[in-house]
Amino acid sequence: MAVTILDTGAEAVIEKHPHKDGSAGSFIVKKRVEKTYRHPMLDKSLRQFRTRREAKILQTLQTLGFPAPNLQHLNDRETEIHMQYIEGDKVKDILEENHVLYSREIGRRVAELHMKDIIHGDLTTSNMIRCKETQKIHFIDFGLSKISDKVEDKAVDLHLLERALESKHHKIFKECFENVKIAYAEINPQHQLVFERYEKVRTRGRNKAK
Ligand SMILES: Nc1ncnc2c1ncn2[C@@H]1O[C@H](COP(=O)(O)OP(=O)(O)O)[C@@H](O)[C@H]1O
Ligand SMILES: [Mg+2]
Repeated sequence: MAVTILDTGAEAVIEKHPHKDGSAGSFIVKKRVEKTYRHPMLDKSLRQFRTRREAKILQTLQTLGFPAPNLQHLNDRETEIHMQYIEGDKVKDILEENHVLYSREIGRRVAELHMKDIIHGDLTTSNMIRCKETQKIHFIDFGLSKISDKVEDKAVDLHLLERALESKHHKIFKECFENVKIAYAEINPQHQLVFERYEKVRTRGRNKAK
């Protein structure tokens, strides 16, 4: 089996590699490539910072047993991560099949992250894969994640998710987000504070758009 390129995003190239020892399955190599429009030194340190941060969070998630790819390797130059390949469907492509159930699962998972003070930073249905093996929704793409106990950061995370649902799943997004919130509230005892702040974040966003 050869190496295949799965994605060349704005920030990284995602390659799928067969295991070198011939064992079944694959792993993902996420390479943050040089951006020539940035100063070379700034570019390198930014790529290293984001890669290290992503690696650190993946490690933490592993110890928590949270459904995300296991970290397998961080390369010497620290601009490349090797991680577990999650085989399955992108939630973006299957949400409509069972949107209430999936939205509830997403809400529970986001609540679990927030209770550990992990802010995902890019909650979209393209960054969630329903794993064929575990049948769970696994979260990926922790390049913009951070550790924070601030209610504001959690509220912004939820608001970004709402915006992402609105833009990619317009017909059902209201019901989806309602169910995200229901499940989130069941898990996170801090939900009331987060929701109150979320309303403020929303109003702020609306006023800015005017
Ligand atoms: N561990 C993984 N398992 C399976 N597919 C992955 C994995 N990591 C990334 N991908 C695929 O590559 C795409 C881009 O990866 P992502 O980490 O989201 O990078 P970007 O920051 O460019 O969005 C994902 O939407 C997904 O399709
Ligand atoms: Mg992504």
